[in-house]
Amino acid sequence: MKLAPSIYTVDFARLGEQIKEAERAGVDVIHLDIMDGNFVPNITFGPMVCAAVCRSTSLLCEAHLMIEGPERYFRDYKDAGVSRIIVHVETCPHLYSTIQQLRQLPVEVGITLNPLTSLDTIKEALPLVDLVLIMSVEPGYGGQKYIPAATRRIAAVRRMLDEIGSKAELEVDGGVNLNTICTVRDAGASIVVVGSAVYNDTYSVADSVAMLRASLQQCPADSDEDTE
Ligand code: DX5
Ligand code: ZN
Repeated sequence: MKLAPSIYTVDFARLGEQIKEAERAGVDVIHLDIMDGNFVPNITFGPMVCAAVCRSTSLLCEAHLMIEGPERYFRDYKDAGVSRIIVHVETCPHLYSTIQQLRQLPVEVGITLNPLTSLDTIKEALPLVDLVLIMSVEPGYGGQKYIPAATRRIAAVRRMLDEIGSKAELEVDGGVNLNTICTVRDAGASIVVVGSAVYNDTYSVADSVAMLRASLQQCPADSDEDTE
């Protein structure tokens, strides 16, 4: 299971340090939550901050674009050092061309959808992408509670990917922590975004990552009950 810390809840006064702490702790991907105050109520940061983050790590940087008209900024994120771009299907009416545009940059192509957007909206695109991100919270904020209904969606997309023999990563984003990580893994995720479970005031980044890894080692056989 790969861990992708979201820098949404990072201490921005110590951004570079916190990225390095996560890298030293053994995470796999840096997850950049881009919010425009339109598609989601919150505003976070843009390509400039992403460039600073990508400069301070050798890990893969993925940008989760929670923005309207994402295609306007693909080149900016690519130039900032982002090597995987994840778009919301709700913001891409011409999804086929959007995927082609990303391929031409090139960057790895990810698609995602809000917790109640039908999985039918991504079914035909699955053969064309490198990653599917399942939102297990309503996008816009960190530190939210995992939506238990997301578990069935993760398992359904896992089946859809297996049916077409896709090698795409299946990533889950939102409310993944010590209580939910086993359920998410058992449902078929290969990467989890972890924001407040890694960047919080209770534990160091190293301890938070170590506890997540330990949780994965000790997943109970019937871990489905742990989604609360
Ligand atoms: C929410 C973001 C998530 C969020 C994850 O819109 O896409 O990546 O920051 O934070 P946690 O893990 O705290 O839910
Ligand atoms: Zn995200």
